[in-house]
Amino acid sequence: MQTLQTTSLRVSQDQLFILDQQALPQKKIWLPADNVDALVEHIHALRVRGAPLIGLSASLLLALLAERGAGREELALALARLRASRPTAVNLMNNLDRMKRALAQADFVPALIAEAERLVAEDKQLCERIADAGSALVTPGSRILTHCNTGGLATAGVGTALGVIARAHQQGNIANVWVDETRPLLQGGRLTAWELGELGIPYQLITDSMAASLMANGQVDAVWVGADRIAANGDVANKIGTYSLAVLATFHGIPFYVAAPHTTLDRHCPHGDAIPIEQRAASEVTGVAGSFGAVQWAPHDAQVYNPAFDVTPAALVSGWVLDTGVVSPQAVAEGIFAPGH
Ligand code: MRU
Repeated sequence: MQTLQTTSLRVSQDQLFILDQQALPQKKIWLPADNVDALVEHIHALRVRGAPLIGLSASLLLALLAERGAGREELALALARLRASRPTAVNLMNNLDRMKRALAQADFVPALIAEAERLVAEDKQLCERIADAGSALVTPGSRILTHCNTGGLATAGVGTALGVIARAHQQGNIANVWVDETRPLLQGGRLTAWELGELGIPYQLITDSMAASLMANGQVDAVWVGADRIAANGDVANKIGTYSLAVLATFHGIPFYVAAPHTTLDRHCPHGDAIPIEQRAASEVTGVAGSFGAVQWAPHDAQVYNPAFDVTPAALVSGWVLDTGVVSPQAVAEGIFAPGH
């Protein structure tokens, strides 16, 4: 395979490496993801995370396994295991559907390699187009609030919502970015803060519970988030806490935009209630762990509810900013995300 490098994926000497997103920003560690067990474990642990990146990493590994001589049956099994590694982000399923079609070809080894490389190249372009479309909506002097991490770490390119923010910053239109820390796994506090710092974009880190008072005080001009799955009626699954922001934004009359590539669309999922929501370990809520160490503050027998994502109803979304352009609530209501469009 070609040598390939994104912010958080690397293919070199026919090996796949991932940038450990649990170790960031304290440590920059590249880990091998050489077989299905290793990659599935990295995905479970969120060392590889973000809807587009999960799908790309799984596709690249399949291509590398094919190149190393794995047979069609072995690859089909690997594909099925990777597909089941996380349930909510549909990019994984959409990417692997394309890899499955490549696997069905007579000459499946070059077909899988070409398809995986194409998916990475395409994702970069999708991010650029989202940034083009989205930045046109950012008004001069904007103070934008964002949640989770949607940047170069989570994609092969400049990111989705964070790509929009970065492009708007280049255009001189960003006054400040409010970064939700994003409990429980702190993708905002660890990853978005780090990416914005690297890009030289002014930001202030807040705990998730501070968004309401900032909005009430008139300090937020727009909310921009990514998505893990967009249903046919426009409902959006994204990192837990997104729904609260959408409710708050609507209450305060603040635009709430969702930025995502078309690979995040699930036209066959009729509405948000049909989106599978990943439930995660209690330890993520009873304390915190990372390269900085681990602490538990809750009682050892505390009962915990820990869904990784929530669903924002379409009615709360001001616009879906895709690589194909900005989709309005009216277009969504008329069925633009439905099958056949
Ligand atoms: O659990 P994570 O960190 O994979 O969740 C990520 C998100 O919710 C992102 O907002 C989404 O995947 C979009 S990334 C471009």
